[in-house]
Amino acid sequence: MSTNLFDLTGKIALVTGASRGIGEAIATLLAEQGAHVIVSSRKLDDCEAVAASLRANGKSAEAFACHVGRMDDIAAIFAHIRERHGRLDILVNNAAANPYFGHILDTDLASYNKTVEVNVRGYFFMSAEAGKMMKAQGGGAIVNTASVNALQPGDMQGIYSITKAAVVNMTKAFAKECGPFGIRVNALLPGLTKTKFAGALFENKALYDRWINEIPLRRHGEPREMAGTVLYLVSDASSYTNGECIVVDGGLTI
Ligand SMILES: NC(=O)c1ccc[n+]([C@@H]2O[C@H](COP(=O)([O-])OP(=O)(O)OC[C@H]3O[C@@H](n4cnc5c(N)ncnc54)[C@H](OP(=O)(O)O)[C@@H]3O)[C@@H](O)[C@H]2O)c1
Repeated sequence: MSTNLFDLTGKIALVTGASRGIGEAIATLLAEQGAHVIVSSRKLDDCEAVAASLRANGKSAEAFACHVGRMDDIAAIFAHIRERHGRLDILVNNAAANPYFGHILDTDLASYNKTVEVNVRGYFFMSAEAGKMMKAQGGGAIVNTASVNALQPGDMQGIYSITKAAVVNMTKAFAKECGPFGIRVNALLPGLTKTKFAGALFENKALYDRWINEIPLRRHGEPREMAGTVLYLVSDASSYTNGECIVVDGGLTI
């Protein structure tokens, strides 16, 4: 047995939204710790580029496309994992949608549906499928990427914030009911992180400066600064941590 609490050698890990941003940083760190990583997002080519780069650096990775807002895609990726690997040790639900930026009263049904389908239904059924495999094999770890918006709704991001609050409760519900099967379920709540997702804010200097001024560390986070918390939550380092939601925001929500 390894004395390194963060060692993931031999573990099979699925990371959604791993073609760029926070998910790519998570996939990279888990692979660096020895896991075989299934890099997933909607676009296979982008996932394959990440997986190929990991393999070129001596890590173990493959790509598989899955739109987590589509139930057929969820069924397909778990059929693939069952057939190819026969087990899943780690699931990181990270892919999310935020199609609407505007006043909550003006939220249109299509944006509402997309946000809920990806961020709530997607996380839920990915967790349920993973949970069934993990129960059968005697345990596993699930991490959900939520957001600080789960605690304090972001301006003009009503429905997105609401789904992220749902992810926090979902984390605790799965943790409670799946804990008896040796499955730990925890969440990462990132603050402002430099990715395409938060691009609009980085392009608006006045808005950006206002945000940064509210962050005690006086800077935004980088994707790799989110990955360490996920490594902690999926590894033996956190073997007694279950249902926890860890905020990584430079102190924004103090
Ligand atoms: N950046 C921030 O400031 C921030 C703050 C708080 C929380 N978060 C959360 O962090 C997570 C990652 O965001 P990010 O900032 O890293 O965003 P990002 O750089 O835009 O990456 C998003 C990833 O999700 C994939 N994706 C989008 N929709 C998908 C879908 N329906 N099914 C499967 N994959 C999908 C994208 O690839 P494809 O286009 O190929 O699908 C991409 O790999 C999200 O849960 C987000 O809510 C971000």
